[in-house]
Amino acid sequence: MNNMVNIFLFGKKYSVPENLTIMTAMEYAGYELVRGCGCRNGFCGACATIYRIKGDRELKACLACQTKVEDNMYIATLPFFPLVKQGYDIEKIPTTEAVMMQLYPEIYACVGCNACTKSCTQGLNVMQYIAYAQRGDFEKCADVSFDCVMCGVCSSRCPAGISHPQVAMLARRINGKYLAPGCEHLENRVKEIKDGDFNELIEALMQKPIDEIKELYNTREIEK
Ligand code: FES
Repeated sequence: MNNMVNIFLFGKKYSVPENLTIMTAMEYAGYELVRGCGCRNGFCGACATIYRIKGDRELKACLACQTKVEDNMYIATLPFFPLVKQGYDIEKIPTTEAVMMQLYPEIYACVGCNACTKSCTQGLNVMQYIAYAQRGDFEKCADVSFDCVMCGVCSSRCPAGISHPQVAMLARRINGKYLAPGCEHLENRVKEIKDGDFNELIEALMQKPIDEIKELYNTREIEK
């Protein structure tokens, strides 16, 4: 028999087993998760959540699929946060800091409060990667922001209204397309796919029963 803890989902009290994640506790409590739930493995960023433990002043942020419930946890999920997302043509974009000034000028209004870094569900140095974006160092911005899952919690805490995940996405795109060294092996494989070299193989796979596909996947050869 599991020990039970009391949690509060959107203000309503539930008693749930202590070994559950916030996400599984919500399902245990009867919620059907349609939004705010994706990969369940800490990668997609769909399950951003904020919580406070009763008596603790600090408001914390986490991914619901990765965080265990605690007694007296007050929980609200954040399935979507309205970020500013600018449109651009990556083929024509300037690769200097001017592009940030043009598309995301609010990054220059950063007040250095570091609330973004403190709230990051991935433990990233968000304020630092915004500083790199400000000075057009897209390589470093891409590197520091690499594990961003775009949950949007950083932006929800930013007094300057910066859309950090979108800024970082732009930096990673510029870095990937123009700055990082090319990878011949990858380029060749993409060309093979485009040329249809794998069409037959994919067709044959699609005809197989699902269990056989799973077995093939689980026992596949993994390149070192
Ligand atoms: S469901 Fe994808 S990160 Fe939690």
